[in-house]
Amino acid sequence: MKKSEAKKRIILLSNELKMHNYNYYVLNNPVITDFEYDILMHELQELEKLFPELAVADSPTQHVGSDLFSDYNLIQKAAVSTNGNPAIPDSPSHPQDAPLTSFAQFKHKYPMLSLGNTYEIDELYAFNERIMKGTSDGLSDSVTYNCELKFDGTAICLTYRNGKLFRALTRGDGTTGDDVTLNILKIASIPKELKSSDSFYRQNKTDNNSSDVGSAQKQSWIQWPEEFEIRGEIYMPYEAFDRLNHQRELDEETPFANPRNAASGSLKLLDSNLVGERGLECTLYHVIAPEMNFITHTEALTAARMWGLPVSDLAQECKSIDEVVKYITIWDTERKKLPFATDGIVIKVNQLALQKSLGFTAKSPRWATAYKFKPEVALTKLVSVDYQVGRTGAITPVANLEPVQLSGTIVKRASLHNSEQMDLLDIHINDYVYVVKGGEIIPKITGVDSSKREPDAEKAAFPQFCPDCGTPLVKDVEEAKSFCPNTDGCPMQIKGKFIHFISRKAMNINAGEATIEQLYNKGYIKILSDLYSLDQKQLLTLDNWKEKSAANFLNSLEMSKECNFSRVLFALGIRYVGETTAKNLAGYFKSMDKLSSATKEELLEVEEIGEKLADAIIEYFSHPDHLEMIGKLKQAGLKMENLESDYQRLSNRLEGKVFVVSGTFSVSREDLKTTIEQHGGKIGSSVSGKTDYLVAGEKSGESKLQKAAKLGIAVISEEELQVMFNS
Ligand code: IVH
Repeated sequence: MKKSEAKKRIILLSNELKMHNYNYYVLNNPVITDFEYDILMHELQELEKLFPELAVADSPTQHVGSDLFSDYNLIQKAAVSTNGNPAIPDSPSHPQDAPLTSFAQFKHKYPMLSLGNTYEIDELYAFNERIMKGTSDGLSDSVTYNCELKFDGTAICLTYRNGKLFRALTRGDGTTGDDVTLNILKIASIPKELKSSDSFYRQNKTDNNSSDVGSAQKQSWIQWPEEFEIRGEIYMPYEAFDRLNHQRELDEETPFANPRNAASGSLKLLDSNLVGERGLECTLYHVIAPEMNFITHTEALTAARMWGLPVSDLAQECKSIDEVVKYITIWDTERKKLPFATDGIVIKVNQLALQKSLGFTAKSPRWATAYKFKPEVALTKLVSVDYQVGRTGAITPVANLEPVQLSGTIVKRASLHNSEQMDLLDIHINDYVYVVKGGEIIPKITGVDSSKREPDAEKAAFPQFCPDCGTPLVKDVEEAKSFCPNTDGCPMQIKGKFIHFISRKAMNINAGEATIEQLYNKGYIKILSDLYSLDQKQLLTLDNWKEKSAANFLNSLEMSKECNFSRVLFALGIRYVGETTAKNLAGYFKSMDKLSSATKEELLEVEEIGEKLADAIIEYFSHPDHLEMIGKLKQAGLKMENLESDYQRLSNRLEGKVFVVSGTFSVSREDLKTTIEQHGGKIGSSVSGKTDYLVAGEKSGESKLQKAAKLGIAVISEEELQVMFNS
């Protein structure tokens, strides 16, 4: 290749990779598979090797993680709206995992690097050659490799100080990470405190059911150092991932593309309580404790396991590269039986002294590499396309395929995302399409084999009218989605709203989709409040329903009346109002009456409420039918306001004091306000002569601070408030 051509190609590849990095690291929404990404990266690396003079300092080959996107910080800043709230509402177009700036950031003690990788076994032999060359004469026979699964999640760096979890940082740009300690504390498998030698000794004694202390000594307990780091991966097992995506679909939020994005998105949630519900797991694979003088990596991991840290027991020490290849061959099949995603095998030189002498390149260690599994691709025929109507009217195209075997399962359906994606692929009915299922649970169509297209093939046309009720569709350009605007008349949307209303996180009514379908088809339920007028006679007309099932259902309806106001609000299914938004709204307005008459300006005052959400709320309450239906729900006994009893009184320490809360905190602002009220305090919305304290968090409103200074009102931090709670 000529130098001028290489230059053009390098620029093209760099821009392309930067865009994919932005999608991956900033939006958490990759549009190409890892495999496609790695091919582009390898091509760039090869060209830079051939023409080193063309390699620039900010090349994607020279950086780790999000710093590949050069304007990352600017984007982070842009993500914060003028009122200091993250401009990332609970909306389908903004997955919750978009970057927020409210985590404190800390520099890593040692940079968090990436790993070189390959899809070719031959290249592992070349890796072995390089290691052997870097080994002093006569010692190459004693080199071993530790083979580990490559867990497909998001990297974490934990620091333990005096045996206690001190800090947890994400990788960030490799140099500086986000402090996600509060979130990490919610992951059950990560110990807050390490086991002591004493507990290890006692445990071994009882395990062996003997008073012989010898066995404990044989395993030679090693005391943890005063401070050390241990790195690993936070991942989301398939089961938790399916559960989360199912809920997101019910809430009409964009499902996460794969467990890895779900894990990194969850780790970046601002409300640590939500993190606890996400079912995250952790595995740790890299101990950094120089003063321990461990001889091998395996030895360090064994010690970490004894200290109670989650270390995988699927790793294996291999004496040669042939043994490494055997391990890879076994796990390429076995990994399909694991309850979590793995995207390869990591091969590490075991001897720490050799690791040290081999050192690092700018981006990765020379003593380790990753062999990555190629995602499986299948070619199959597209039979037809279904257009599903969600509860908010969003139309999703789903491809029906001729069944094909892929990554251990039979695939019959695959996502086509939206009309743009269909146009991009130029999908025709009866086309042969490529289906990929990498880490993804929902298979994707990534391409078409147009050479197999029949001349008279018909283009798959996205409908102009709702497939359920025939209403002309409208397009939301920003969200690249088409909607059926017949919100209150489209049967699919109505049924979807009932299914959402009864769901576990909403009113938690003991019934399923089939019951809703029957009740609706029989004409018993048209609007949500109709549920509370159902009687036993009607229920006994449903297929296979007996007295007992009817009684259970009626009982469950009765119990649902105990749900608090924020749940009722969430259950209404107002567009974009997810669980967190409902909590914030309920916390701020306290009653349905106040919320339904709120102005846009008032709504924008609420934590995490942006323009789009405010408009959707105003729109919902502008319909007299909705207000009438809410009236009926109220009559049925549903809670339409926050009750004193919703808040457990904790003390009277703040009795008579008025607090204004501004900025972001370690907990959500609404939770902080609730705690103030639980201690007897009152919340004011703006700083005035009546205010006693302004509680200022990060990015608190400048005008509030100025006004407080002018009026001589005490400005306190979250920590000072905590002291007031406790003393
Ligand atoms: S070792 C300096 N071991 O894969 C070496 N990484 O693509 C640090 N990963 O950044 C990494 N499983 O986030 C290592 N058993 C394992 C791993 C692993 C998953 C991740 C890690 C790393 C990325 C590189």
